[in-house]
Amino acid sequence: MRTFNNILITGGAGFIGSNMVRYLFEGYANFAGRVINLDSLTYAGNPESLADIAERYGKGAKPRYVFVQGDICDRPLIEKLFKDYEIDAVIHFAAESHVDRSIVGPEAFIRTNVMGTFTLLDVARNAWKTSDGTLRKDVLFHHISTDEVYGSLGETGYFTETTAYDPRSPYSASKAGSDHLVMAYHHTYGLPVTLTNCSNNYGPYQFPEKLIPLMILNMTEGKPLPVYGDGKNIRDWLYVEDHNSAVWLVMRQGKIGEKYNIGGENEWQNIELLKKLINIVAEETGKNTNDLRSLITYVKDRPGHDRRYAIDCSKLKGELGWSQSVSFEEGLRKTVRWYLANPTWVAHVRSGEYRSWIEKNYDKR
Ligand code: NAD
Ligand code: TYD
Repeated sequence: MRTFNNILITGGAGFIGSNMVRYLFEGYANFAGRVINLDSLTYAGNPESLADIAERYGKGAKPRYVFVQGDICDRPLIEKLFKDYEIDAVIHFAAESHVDRSIVGPEAFIRTNVMGTFTLLDVARNAWKTSDGTLRKDVLFHHISTDEVYGSLGETGYFTETTAYDPRSPYSASKAGSDHLVMAYHHTYGLPVTLTNCSNNYGPYQFPEKLIPLMILNMTEGKPLPVYGDGKNIRDWLYVEDHNSAVWLVMRQGKIGEKYNIGGENEWQNIELLKKLINIVAEETGKNTNDLRSLITYVKDRPGHDRRYAIDCSKLKGELGWSQSVSFEEGLRKTVRWYLANPTWVAHVRSGEYRSWIEKNYDKR
């Protein structure tokens, strides 16, 4: 079993990354070392998501949690972080992550997802060189990727780790590029890497442009629920904590140089998911189910909208003994309750007002 002392998490102020930091300190991981969270705070990043973690672990002479506002493309900054904090593991979440935004403005996706990943890999390769020129074996670069690199499925079949890449949006193409770079750094330079491709995540702290939080908030505000196309596109949904438990398992016990698929084995047509979510929101808020259903509005389809994603995660289950722990019903209910209980987080992340919180809580670098 691999152990780590100083983990650099990129994109740790975003949805999955912030849940990962929480999982490391206070979840099942019970991590005893230090986490450096590097995030440039795009519209999607909000360090307020980890305010309590910063309070508990970020104080004193040797804090175990350090937040750094910075860009993964900034090579001198990353070199400094590797040196100052003796980084021995990277969990690379940072990315431009929303397909719709990649259609409107692809450039930021290429910059962050491709160039940013390259910069991190290249700094790691140099920082982890030993005196005889080979790379240390007690370190790890874990790359977080998506099932979307595999393309779109028809009504049957599953993505396995050997499915050929066939990305179809600027988002998935840039993630595919980053995956190839990670594997190339392993094969060419011997960089110790692991890589995971996960299906759609949901849970607390997700920016409300993605399907589930958007729909929950629109329901509470009586706004239209925009369903793209015929609403029959299928996604495989996984609760965010189950994603992070799989990542942590792969980092500690997965084979170096290998990739693992992570999935919910939980496929839903968007329209059926929405109906289920409506029932839960109605129960949790006392709103009328028919009133909520009347908000469903079919809108123009997303260009190149992938029809179906479905992950075969039998490698992860068979080799490492992972399984999902949160049912869809339970996960959706927890998520609805979290959004209902955290209107200030929602208001701040939507308005960008959390930036004034940063001014008050962090020194400018
Ligand atoms: P997110 O958009 O919520 O968070 C991304 C974070 O990265 C933000 O905090 C943002 O500020 C930061 N960031 C963006 N560009 C940066 C840069 N140049 N330098 C430093 N930080 C930068 O995304 P998420 O949903 O948490 O996704 C995290 C990772 O997981 C991504 O790599 C994504 O491709 C992958 N993934 C997401 C899902 C999903 O369903 N959300 C599924 C599978 C894989
Ligand atoms: P999304 O959360 O953007 O994730 P991804 O595109 O990465 O899978 O969208 C999930 C599904 O929901 C996808 O099929 C597009 C659809 N969708 C809508 O129908 N309406 C919306 O407003 C959004 C944001 C997504």
